[in-house]
Amino acid sequence: MPKILITGGAGFIGSSLAEALVADQSNYVVIVDNLLTGRREFLPSPELKNWQFELVDVNNYNSLAEVFAKYEPEYVFHFAAVVGVERTLNNPLLVLEDMEGTKNVVKLCVKHHVKKIFYASSSEVYGDPFEVPQKEDTTPINARLPYAAVKNISEVIIKTYGAEFGLPYTIFRFFNTYGPRQSDDFVISRFIRQALSGKPITVHSPGSQTRTFCYISDTIETILKIFYNNLMTNTIINIGNNEEITMIKLAETIRKITGSQSPITIVPPRKEGEILRRKPDITKMLSILRRPLVKLEDGIKNIVDLWTQRKDRIPAFHKPSYELFKSAYLSAGK
Ligand SMILES: NC(=O)c1ccc[n+]([C@@H]2O[C@H](COP(=O)([O-])OP(=O)(O)OC[C@H]3O[C@@H](n4cnc5c(N)ncnc54)[C@H](O)[C@@H]3O)[C@@H](O)[C@H]2O)c1
Repeated sequence: MPKILITGGAGFIGSSLAEALVADQSNYVVIVDNLLTGRREFLPSPELKNWQFELVDVNNYNSLAEVFAKYEPEYVFHFAAVVGVERTLNNPLLVLEDMEGTKNVVKLCVKHHVKKIFYASSSEVYGDPFEVPQKEDTTPINARLPYAAVKNISEVIIKTYGAEFGLPYTIFRFFNTYGPRQSDDFVISRFIRQALSGKPITVHSPGSQTRTFCYISDTIETILKIFYNNLMTNTIINIGNNEEITMIKLAETIRKITGSQSPITIVPPRKEGEILRRKPDITKMLSILRRPLVKLEDGIKNIVDLWTQRKDRIPAFHKPSYELFKSAYLSAGK
């Protein structure tokens, strides 16, 4: 039974991954989170016995060391981080602490002979990008803000420990990901909530800035295929969608899907951190996923359906079939 540790496993992406891994009864999953932005409601069903939750801050070496000693994980997904544009801009020192978390996780992976570490980096390392689309191996890094710099340094820590101690790694550079569990810190969730409540949909000026949005099931399916088939070892891979949309068009799309009468209001630009254009090269990702990505309108409709039909409940994750990955895993003879 592979033992898998996920830091940040009560958060949006981490809990979606935990749910998919726990659905496979041959895995045992240890979820580590300090619940800064994560939620207990996102933990897997208590009826399933192949998982455990540990309320631990990964930036505290001794606490994390106890978890590693207790479970001896074979695979580690390091997804814990302070996230959200406003939160990271407002708490730069807290963000810098996450470098300690990465060092702690990597040192303990080496000490406990972990077979592979997977790290959640970010498209923010490309900063205001030198080229469009951004390619993993050739687009220069342009990380200036603390969050971006920490992601960049964390990548370097993982690569350096990997080279020094033979710790295999895969680094995911996530571009904007969205789904039912995402908090209002992120634009799609915020626009949908504003539209559903009839409040103005607030777009940061100029409104013509573009983003790309990757639905959570595309993200999770790609991660699972990489994990089960042991792909992309010692490699950095962009995980995202390459269809660009302006923020004004996004607001209009969400207003149309929700049938909302909310006005679209332009608010002042952010002082920092407002990048005009971001778009990943996803050649590597598509070579793994081998299917079309979820269309933005379909992903938004899915979230709206879940949120409006089950208003009082935590929206469920749109599950990929784990059987699919299981069979790919087995046929790879792993
Ligand atoms: N969602 C995106 O679009 C996106 C884009 C780029 C990168 N990422 C990265 O992916 C990872 C997951 O992001 P998410 O969107 O799921 O955010 P999230 O806030 O939902 O998840 C982060 C989780 O980490 C936990 N956490 C934070 N600091 C911790 C600490 N010191 N110790 C233990 N737990 C801690 C939080 O409580 C939360 O559950 C993060 O590393 C983030 O930087 C996400």
